[in-house]
Amino acid sequence: MTDCQGDAEVAKSPLELYEQLTAQGDEVRTLKTAKADKAEIDAAVQLLLKLKVGYKQMTGQDFKAGCPPSDNSVAPNNGPAAVDADDEDTVDPWNVSTSNAKGVDYDKLIVRFGSSKIDKELVDRIEKVLGQKPHRFLRRGIFFSHRDMQQVLDAYEKHKSFYLYTGRGPSSEAMHVGHLIPFIFTKWLQDVFDIPLVIQMTDDEKYLWKDLTLEDCHHFAVENAKDIIACGFDVNKTFIFSDLDYMGATPEFYRNVVKIQKHVTFNQVKGIFGFTDSDCIGKISFPAIQAAPSFSSSFPQIFKGRKDIQCLIPCAIDQDPYFRMTRDVAPRIGYPKPALLHSTFFPALQGAQTKMSASDANSSIFLTDTPKQLKNKVNKHAFSGGKDTVEEHRKYGGNPDIDVAFMYLTFFLEDDEQLEKIRQDYTSGALLTGELKKILIETLQPMIAQHQERRKQVTDEIVKQFMTPRPLNFNF
Ligand code: TYM
Repeated sequence: MTDCQGDAEVAKSPLELYEQLTAQGDEVRTLKTAKADKAEIDAAVQLLLKLKVGYKQMTGQDFKAGCPPSDNSVAPNNGPAAVDADDEDTVDPWNVSTSNAKGVDYDKLIVRFGSSKIDKELVDRIEKVLGQKPHRFLRRGIFFSHRDMQQVLDAYEKHKSFYLYTGRGPSSEAMHVGHLIPFIFTKWLQDVFDIPLVIQMTDDEKYLWKDLTLEDCHHFAVENAKDIIACGFDVNKTFIFSDLDYMGATPEFYRNVVKIQKHVTFNQVKGIFGFTDSDCIGKISFPAIQAAPSFSSSFPQIFKGRKDIQCLIPCAIDQDPYFRMTRDVAPRIGYPKPALLHSTFFPALQGAQTKMSASDANSSIFLTDTPKQLKNKVNKHAFSGGKDTVEEHRKYGGNPDIDVAFMYLTFFLEDDEQLEKIRQDYTSGALLTGELKKILIETLQPMIAQHQERRKQVTDEIVKQFMTPRPLNFNF
């Protein structure tokens, strides 16, 4: 299939073959229900069987209705809102939940999504290639999964260009600490690789999904850009854009959106994102807009029309459905597939069964929280892996694997040895829950205060500089 018209004979990718199979299964059912001519039913069944054999040859797996293939065709992809029957983990751009107090089973997710684990070998290679200690998010498995990172490192070693792309859906003025994770890491990647970065503010997405006006969403995009800039990005190397502004201003961007739209069917986005017939058409076509920045030709002012520059996308794994789709489309429109680095989720205060989410104020520490608010939230709401009484805790010890204060420290405490000592002391019972929470509060309070201080320095003029389409300090 090369476009939305469909082509029942030639399938070029596992996802297309999956679509053909799904449609053919529907066709067989319809014929049977309508008690059609036996020869007609037989012919349809034969075609279905033929497609199933082809699918098995292409993906190495049996066709399973409702389970689209992953982009590299080696593992089943249960779609976005899919609930894994074994472990009940749900991970998609809108929902993250698990019944396991330790959080999502990320190893299973790697298999389900068909990505690759960031193992010790890869972390060692990153260290060797960069000649410096990997970021704590890599050392501690917080960025745990990738697609094509080895290829990116090969390119770097051969002095080939690539660029970074990440984003934010601006749904309110205040971002929470979880939102900082990909930006902190992206800042590190920009520093160590010294490459251009584009940041998409999907104000259009938030307008389509939430009960907000276009003006609100655009305003939030500009306000959130201030928090992002406060992470320390270099204005000479970074372009931040609002979809509502940039789509109309840059014909090349919209041309890429349209190319992507032509190569993805409604059935495919239903399979990947769980859209239903009653979703508005804006939602159905939105994935093409999040895909377009993965292609360098969407930024002619930066890449001078070059189409061949590979992109590396750091994000939490909830965004992967967008990029599975993008990677499926890329070769069909003549562009390189984007590479990805996926992070785990910064958990809600109430526990790792769900990610920190802006829609629940008590589950989140916001970047606007005062030191007192932060202290109260941690003391009152942070789920504890400690025992009920001091005596029991001293005797049996606490469980850091389910303790939210300890989990937060793994994200933000830089010193590996100190973190390990805290883990041991908490496990043995030498460190009490209140003491652990105090360490967390003392780690987060200055971090957030410094962020607020840096954000205050970000004037409207600075935001405008970052958000103006312009060449960056790189020669292409
Ligand atoms: P949004 O605004 O939901 O999230 C912004 C980024 O933060 C990550 N994230 C988290 N990471 C760790 N722990 C959490 N609790 C947590 N919550 C959110 C998200 O994975 C994301 O990386 N549609 C996107 C915006 C977007 C985008 C992109 C994101 C557009 N293009 C390219 C990443 C890469 C969104 O609404 O993100």
